[in-house]
Amino acid sequence: MMTSVRMKKILVTGALGQIGLELTPVLRKRYGKDNVIASDIRSPSKNFLNSGPFESLNILNRTDLEEVIKVYDIDTVFHLAAILSATGEKNPQNALEVNLFGVYNILEVSRKLNLTRVFVPSSIAVFGPETSKINAPQDISLRPRTIYGITKVTGELLSNYYYYKFGLDVRGLRWPGIISTSPPGGGTTDYAVEMFYYAVEGKRYKCFVREDTVLPMMYMPDCLKSAIMLMEADLSRLKHHADFNVGGMSFSAGELAAEIKKRIPSFEVDYEPDFRQEIADTWPKSIDDSDARIEWGWSASYNITSMAEEMINKLMKVRNT
Ligand SMILES: NC(=O)c1ccc[n+]([C@@H]2O[C@H](COP(=O)([O-])OP(=O)(O)OC[C@H]3O[C@@H](n4cnc5c(N)ncnc54)[C@H](O)[C@@H]3O)[C@@H](O)[C@H]2O)c1
Repeated sequence: MMTSVRMKKILVTGALGQIGLELTPVLRKRYGKDNVIASDIRSPSKNFLNSGPFESLNILNRTDLEEVIKVYDIDTVFHLAAILSATGEKNPQNALEVNLFGVYNILEVSRKLNLTRVFVPSSIAVFGPETSKINAPQDISLRPRTIYGITKVTGELLSNYYYYKFGLDVRGLRWPGIISTSPPGGGTTDYAVEMFYYAVEGKRYKCFVREDTVLPMMYMPDCLKSAIMLMEADLSRLKHHADFNVGGMSFSAGELAAEIKKRIPSFEVDYEPDFRQEIADTWPKSIDDSDARIEWGWSASYNITSMAEEMINKLMKVRNT
């Protein structure tokens, strides 16, 4: 990966979530511990607090956000604070508020204070049931059925608006379901992480989607790589800004269970779909990410086999210590 000379002081919002917990240390290693300020509405663990600067921050409080950015002389934001798909469906008003006004506050403060670059992630949840299930295209009409998807489409549009209207360098991509050892935060693809947790603990797992449900997924190291690659990409090469499709791997819940079973033969899964099946059924099975490949050189490193191998090894190691 190319090293950026432009990101000097970084603010991470939602740093205690599934992605923030892993992105923050990677950014600190790359840009310097004291140059990456983590923030969240929740309180951090002692370990996290000792690992670098942390600020308690509700993204809906624009005055506090502005203050933190000024005090630390922030020039770059990775905006991860959000309400995810499954949690969002339980309280749509809250999802709307946090996701829409969170993005709006970040963009507005970044414009006002003339920040260098802002990362606002989107999701495959921007797609709706009308989108072709295989290789969902990059530039199409987006008609999601979930409140989360609606806020993500709006976030993309707002981010692109700030780029074209005000010249704010906002970048974003449509992550698929992220698989990691860090715990997921209420998304529809959480079953793909939970299966590993249960398998390693020797427990039977009740999966909330059907065995034949296929969704696009990505392993955390690829997720972090995609964020950093996009943020370090040469602006002059980008034709898209806040709405890149990115692909990792695609598999059914049953295929993942079988992959885990190869390594933990006693692992068993029951399939009992709940409200999250309906959400999953509106999303594509795979993603066409050719524009990300062309514009900033994207390609995923992990497939289902290498991901499962590494996930089990890491979780076993934690369990045995
Ligand atoms: N995890 C995935 O599979 C996935 C997939 C696609 C896109 N994304 C996107 O990536 C980003 C990060 O997702 P994640 O999985 O880490 O989410 P998460 O739910 O695990 O973490 C979100 C964090 O935001 C914090 N937060 C919530 N409301 C807040 C507020 N008002 N002010 C400040 N912080 C607040 C929460 O405390 C939490 O720590 C989100 O924009 C999400 O939509 C995630």
